[in-house]
Amino acid sequence: MNGNLARYSGIGLAILFVLIQFVPVDRSNPTVTGVVDAPEEVMLTLRRSCWDCHSNETEWPRYARVAPVSWRLSQHVSRGREHLNFTEWDGYDLADLDEAYEEIGKEMESEGMPLGDYLLIHREAVLSRTDRQRLIAWAEAARESLPERPLEDELPAEAVRP
Ligand code: HEC
Repeated sequence: MNGNLARYSGIGLAILFVLIQFVPVDRSNPTVTGVVDAPEEVMLTLRRSCWDCHSNETEWPRYARVAPVSWRLSQHVSRGREHLNFTEWDGYDLADLDEAYEEIGKEMESEGMPLGDYLLIHREAVLSRTDRQRLIAWAEAARESLPERPLEDELPAEAVRP
């Protein structure tokens, strides 16, 4: 009885595994519209450790084709791009840039990025202390060099929504 149960649930799982392969997964790379502008060393670090999830130039690995791993990867990339996309940088206004640089600094300080399970597979993306410090310094300087945004009450009256 137990043997049968094990056999049937094994077959059930195998069938399920085959079936989930047919669920469509988005592995597209949308058009690059504008790439972030940073010194070469910073760019190398961003491309090495952040690009796969925060750009439209994701290198989808072979294992990205097998569900359910593919679902997780696709979700990481779409969420990553949503939060921060180094290849749609031209679409960011001052407020977006201000926030992006601030968040990058925070993530580097807290070592929250790159995501841990990504680093398990992509050892080349691991950041050294120097890499982190460099990104922090860059983000800080870039944030400070943003033009001042006028405060709401300094805007001409017609620019303020009722
Ligand atoms: C494996 C994919 C992956 C990699 C690699 C990765 N990130 Fe992320 N990142 C994400 C996801 C997903 C989020 C969305 C936050 C969440 O859901 O936890 C995120 C969020 C962020 C945020 C927060 C944005 C906000 O507005 O809250 C920043 C900043 C960030 N990442 C910076 C980086 C930097 C810098 C690197 C490279 C050093 C990097 N990330 C590498 C997946 C990744």
